[in-house]
Amino acid sequence: MENRETVLVLALILFTVAVQCEYDYENSNVFDLKEKVTHLHFYLFDILSGAKPSAVEVARPNITVGAKSATPFGHVYAIDDPLKDGPNADSKVIGNAQGLYLSSSQGDQLTLVMYADFGFTTGKFNGSSISVFSRNPVTETKRELAVVGGRGTFRMARGFAHVRTHYLNTTNGDAILEYKVTLLHY
Ligand SMILES: *[C@@H]1O[C@H](CO)[C@@H](O)[C@H](O)[C@H]1NC(C)=O
Ligand SMILES: *[C@@H]1O[C@H](CO)[C@@H](O)[C@H](O)[C@H]1NC(C)=O
Ligand SMILES: *[C@@H]1O[C@H](CO)[C@@H](O)[C@H](O)[C@H]1NC(C)=O
Repeated sequence: MENRETVLVLALILFTVAVQCEYDYENSNVFDLKEKVTHLHFYLFDILSGAKPSAVEVARPNITVGAKSATPFGHVYAIDDPLKDGPNADSKVIGNAQGLYLSSSQGDQLTLVMYADFGFTTGKFNGSSISVFSRNPVTETKRELAVVGGRGTFRMARGFAHVRTHYLNTTNGDAILEYKVTLLHY
């Protein structure tokens, strides 16, 4: 009799735990599984100089490696870079790229690894963003970054960005980059 009660109590405890562990739920917002292709074209302004830079150094090694560069190996920068619809100072701001980049090459070729969320604040993609996680060999004239995800309209996106340097000041590191992005998303 006592054994049976113990078993019942144990079963009740297990059942309760099982119920509490259910964290999946029905989502009525079922995906339309037709993939769409979207192309985006914009310019990223990465400004390290001046009184209000959009990229600031947040960490560096305690030794100097490759000091000739404006962004030596091992330096980490936090960014809140404006995205604009054109390459000029007065071009319209359409969003911002927030995140980090790391100067990642010990060699002569400056390479950055970017970990950034490119968010859009105007037009039909207002509130949506794409996640860029990629090596960026900045000295190569034509380069490609991987897009690994997104939010909003670009939920579950994947794709790539072709990046071209429109302007670079090698002394202070200021740069204007042209982005042509191709995205697959639902
Ligand atoms: C850098 O930091 C390491 C670890 O704390 C230390 O051993 C080394 O002496 C430091 N190097 C310099 C140049 O300060
Ligand atoms: C973008 O969306 C935000 C939040 O919904 C809204 O406050 C803002 O006015 C929108 N901006 C434009 C330009 O549509
Ligand atoms: C590049 O940056 C340096 C240092 O801030 C500045 O003296 C120089 O005028 C800049 N060059 C151009 C073309 O803006």
